Amino acid sequence: MIEGSSHRKRALLVVLVFAAMLVLAACAGPDRLGIESVVDSDLPQNSLDPAGPDARSIDNLWWPVFWIATVVFVVVEAALLFAVFRFRRRPGSDHQVKQTHGNVRLEIVWTIIPVVLLAAIAIPTVVTLFDLRSAPDPDENALQIEVTGHQWWWEFYYPDYGFSTANEMHIPAGRTVYLTMTSADVIHSFWAPQLNGKRDLVPGRTTNLTLEADEPGIFLGQCTEFCGLAHADMRHRVFADTESDFETWAEAQAEPATLPTGGPAAAGWETFQASCAACHTIAGSSATGEFAPDLTHFASRTTFGGATFANTDQHLRDWLHNPSDLKPMRPELNDLAAGRVLGMPNLGLTDQEIDDLIAFLEILE
Ligand code: CUA
Repeated sequence: MIEGSSHRKRALLVVLVFAAMLVLAACAGPDRLGIESVVDSDLPQNSLDPAGPDARSIDNLWWPVFWIATVVFVVVEAALLFAVFRFRRRPGSDHQVKQTHGNVRLEIVWTIIPVVLLAAIAIPTVVTLFDLRSAPDPDENALQIEVTGHQWWWEFYYPDYGFSTANEMHIPAGRTVYLTMTSADVIHSFWAPQLNGKRDLVPGRTTNLTLEADEPGIFLGQCTEFCGLAHADMRHRVFADTESDFETWAEAQAEPATLPTGGPAAAGWETFQASCAACHTIAGSSATGEFAPDLTHFASRTTFGGATFANTDQHLRDWLHNPSDLKPMRPELNDLAAGRVLGMPNLGLTDQEIDDLIAFLEILE
């Protein structure tokens, strides 16, 4: 009696959990990332849809391993099912199956087959690993980008051009890009699945990764090493441009900001200097904070907040009211003197100040 009711409760619980999952899945709501407008794909982070030579070499390794594993799985499961059903104990039969102990020929065979299979997989795996880890030849004229992981956003510094941007990396299609990466706090991991595998960013060390896109396009990526509260909101975008579009973009990014001289944008600039400049940089101005994304050309970005929100007025308004409402962060633990930043605090801005700040941010093209 008691057992029956606990079974029913458990079944009810399973049904409820399943129903909750369905409801939550339906709650995805409008696309806050604006992905639909930039990527023409339901699977924008599909590593089985490589868009460059590095990702392709991983894909070329993945498929043979997948098919070998599939054949092994089917053969082993078929043999298992055959043995289970063919030799099962039948009703009314006391027949004992013959017990076998030790069979040298069999043991040699089932040792050699896996050795051969694993060797067949290991050789191309090791070759691919070394290939992916090698630095590009100097004559490849690789574009250098220095990547720094922060809780919870990406800093991309272009040493050849002398500017810094956040969360959105532009690269020239068809040219090798060499990332030199480190972290400002904890371990992060850079992954743009259509362009290459993952590589960790480790505080106090540098790691490298090559990227190359065959064609212009937008490739989504994210941090793939758990790094705290907003790990899931630490995303990035790689924009592969034509060589000339890339040069145009990079030259514009290297320019200092044009500061406003009047109107709401000028009022916003005043507010910015008072409330934001300790953490954010506007190149060519007195705002030189280095704890948060460089906003010199903020309006040229499609997203903000770890590439988690489409760069729209409404998202900015919500963000400036209280960033932690949009993205889980712990700004109450910030200690700028110690270099520790865990998110943008609620600055207690008035609606007027927020409107002015948005007017200012919008001119930072
Ligand atoms: Cu950074 Cu997870």
